Amino acid sequence: RPGWPGIIRAYAGRIAVPPGAEVVTLGEGNTPLLPAPHLSELTGATVYLKTEGVNPTGSFKDRGMTVAVTHAKAIGREAVICASTGNTSASAAAYAARAGLTCAVLVPTGKIALGKLAQAVAYGARILQIQGNFDDCLELARKTAAEYPIELVNSVNPVRLIGQRTVAWEICDVLGRAPDVHCLPVGNAGNITAAWQGYKGYSQDGVIDAPPRMFGFQAAGAAPIVRGEPVPNPETIATAIRVGSPASWAGAVAAREESRGLIDAVTDEEIIAAYRLLSTREGVFVEPASAASVAGLLKTAADGRLPRGATVVCTVTGHGLKDPDTALSGVAEVEPVPVDATAVAAALELT
Ligand code: F0G
Repeated sequence: RPGWPGIIRAYAGRIAVPPGAEVVTLGEGNTPLLPAPHLSELTGATVYLKTEGVNPTGSFKDRGMTVAVTHAKAIGREAVICASTGNTSASAAAYAARAGLTCAVLVPTGKIALGKLAQAVAYGARILQIQGNFDDCLELARKTAAEYPIELVNSVNPVRLIGQRTVAWEICDVLGRAPDVHCLPVGNAGNITAAWQGYKGYSQDGVIDAPPRMFGFQAAGAAPIVRGEPVPNPETIATAIRVGSPASWAGAVAAREESRGLIDAVTDEEIIAAYRLLSTREGVFVEPASAASVAGLLKTAADGRLPRGATVVCTVTGHGLKDPDTALSGVAEVEPVPVDATAVAAALELT
């Protein structure tokens, strides 16, 4: 849509901000709902990709951050803080910069993708690399915000998840109905919680006849909800969802139960296979965590849990450029070629 005003103004009736608040927006939302012909053929379903990497900082976090930072500014805060596997910090740093607030980010040392770190640096955040994992960072951020005058903008801040409901509303607005199944990756579990609340709201208001079944996917090495207990040392190539003790655990379980959905685990091998398929066959370059939704789609289509002929939306949560190391891993050095058309043709094996 031309002139898109960002999600707070686009859904003004559904997102409350303090009276007189200055809306802090970078034009987030209104991301493409892209048909995925190759995935549709593979699964026998009608598959769409909600490409959240198109958001201003390259992930879905911007939907929540516009609301969280608008609130923080309206109540007079001068600083915000978050824990992050990288995307929340990139988003918080950008919206804080826009609002003229200071931003502090707590990230796990060595476990955040290069592009995300570059974003936090570029937007001028105070970056603290914590010698612990994401769960340690979140606990520290909560403690700091409880004791000092700094606003916590992680998804434990309830206004952030209200912004993240908008993904469900946009999908329904475009399709003219809800999908039958919505697949998405699960890390700290805020996103599945928010999307489900979004669908429920539209359903209760009669905007849609029925909400979808929610299919959430964790990485096998970081799958506390699937296992039913926290994972003390989570590990996965999908660093964005390397979370052992999700803050919105109960919300994710409610989404699964109330929607008659499921939460399952996908291996790193399945995630990487889906990651490569998305870029080489659909032309959609995402970061590894985002491919967990598609790995789960393929898994449930193969074992019969995905109804044939269903309309399915997969959220692909973050842009592929966030994690250049994974994109380049296993790629042999690119051979130099002289400035010569014959050499180019030979290199390309053209005849
Ligand atoms: N996909 C990406 C690209 C993410 O960055 C995240 C979460 C998720 C999926 C999972 O969403 O946590 O709501 O279940 N990233 C957080 C962060 C943890 O710090 O950026 P969730």
